[in-house]
Amino acid sequence: MRDILLYNELAYLWPVISPPDTYAGEAAHWREALRGRLGPGRHRLLELGVGGGHNLSHLTAEFDAAAVDISPRMLELSRRLNPSVEHYLGDMRDVRLGQVFDGVLIHDAISYMQTEDDLRAAFATARVHLRPGGLLLVAPDLVRDTFRHGMRLRWDSWRDGVEVIIEEAIYDSDPCDTMVESHFTYTITERGARRVERDVHVTGLFSIAVWFSLLEEAGFEAELIPLPGDGDGCGEQLFCGVLVR
Ligand SMILES: C[S@@+](CC[C@H](N)C(=O)[O-])C[C@H]1O[C@@H](n2cnc3c(N)ncnc32)[C@H](O)[C@@H]1O
Repeated sequence: MRDILLYNELAYLWPVISPPDTYAGEAAHWREALRGRLGPGRHRLLELGVGGGHNLSHLTAEFDAAAVDISPRMLELSRRLNPSVEHYLGDMRDVRLGQVFDGVLIHDAISYMQTEDDLRAAFATARVHLRPGGLLLVAPDLVRDTFRHGMRLRWDSWRDGVEVIIEEAIYDSDPCDTMVESHFTYTITERGARRVERDVHVTGLFSIAVWFSLLEEAGFEAELIPLPGDGDGCGEQLFCGVLVR
């Protein structure tokens, strides 16, 4: 994770590349899933891999929350956006806060779990932080069932005088393993100067059947809520697990 520019030196660009207001529609689905299963009340949530806290920022008016991320710079962004949230530096595979919550959220950060053992470890973390009957919500960017080798995405964004053009190409160089590589090019224009930065994110790719099987192995009764996604085949699945065992 330390080698990913976007969550380190380039973290200040996260609110430009992926602005908080663009999460409103998706967060409405998360709110509905939480309310539908936890019922009314100011439930306590933990988000693992909170990033800039953009998705979470749409839930803090109704829920109390704590948040974990492995990147100090991303954590700082979320701290500024979500001052009411307790923030902790940690790895979702082994962080232990010694607290129990009604819901654990893992948004697109779950994509950084590269192997089934990584997923098992993240689900174990969720489990130890949940009360019996608590809810785990997880939303991978991609699943093996709909992944297309060589997928290409391109988008433009600007804010406060900074413009970033993002190009992403996703390759599955070894279909026998559970990893894919996203090759990013960021063309950044700020204070009249243009520069190009490159980044490779290695993320996990699992079938829906594997998602279900690992959630059930971890003690969750799981269901899948289909989401509209971003129109490019990303973010179309929200897995919900109720801790039953
Ligand atoms: C795409 S960003 C999340 C953005 C977030 N959904 C938002 O609304 O702003 C992915 C985040 O996952 C974090 N991350 C990756 N691996 C992690 C791990 N093992 N434990 C905790 N956080 C991790 C990265 O540091 C990064 O902040």
